[in-house]
Amino acid sequence: MSASGLWCVVPAAGRGLRVGGDRPKQYLPIGGRPLIEHTLDRLARHAQVAGLMVVLSPGDELWPGLASMHGKPVLTAPGGAERCDSVLAGLQALPDSVGETDFVLVHDAARPCVRLADISRLIELAGRGEGGLLGAPLRDTLKRADPAGCSALTEPRDLRWRAFTPQMFRRGALSVALREASRRGVTVSDEAMAMELAGHAPLLVEGAEDNIKVTTAADFALAEFLLGRTAPAGKE
Ligand code: C5P
Repeated sequence: MSASGLWCVVPAAGRGLRVGGDRPKQYLPIGGRPLIEHTLDRLARHAQVAGLMVVLSPGDELWPGLASMHGKPVLTAPGGAERCDSVLAGLQALPDSVGETDFVLVHDAARPCVRLADISRLIELAGRGEGGLLGAPLRDTLKRADPAGCSALTEPRDLRWRAFTPQMFRRGALSVALREASRRGVTVSDEAMAMELAGHAPLLVEGAEDNIKVTTAADFALAEFLLGRTAPAGKE
């Protein structure tokens, strides 16, 4: 990590079709404030975060035009058709001061409840090697459905994890891995998948399971509850 801290790329160019509502989910309110502002607020509060690169849908007219948060710069870049395209666009748009071997964080705009202590642990543990991601071991029994919606078989649960964000990799290595996945026609669903395809083994760092990705209408109520009970500013 550079002395000035890490930049965080925040993909926010999705349309959020699963939620319903009159606008993309990142602009729907939680407790009177757009979802994305909760997420950016939390990230910017982290002492080791140097700046935020928010990736927006081209033509996004709802972005509130934030230029800084908690004294950290907030920049924007236009995103792409898939999340992985948006992340790559954000990596490319980072300031020149971010070196190719510097670590960067990538965090979904749709995860406002991430805990500062988990970000710290990710930086500490994944920063000792070539990067990693927050996640949690699978605790439920996992079923494979057949086309009729019946349970065809039970998948093994051992060694299965759910992947969260932030994910942290070196700017150059992640850019190469995302470009290579795209060249091979693979739409990776997270950064770690691109790194795996490139032959790396990202470190899994266990984080709190309340780092939910707000996806459905019910998730908004849950996120509001969680945001109300988790303490701000590093007190978690
Ligand atoms: O759709 P989903 O919830 O999986 O998206 C995860 C994150 O990726 C969201 O913050 C969304 O705005 C972002 N995204 C993006 N560009 C896309 C699709 C999704 O930045 N083309």
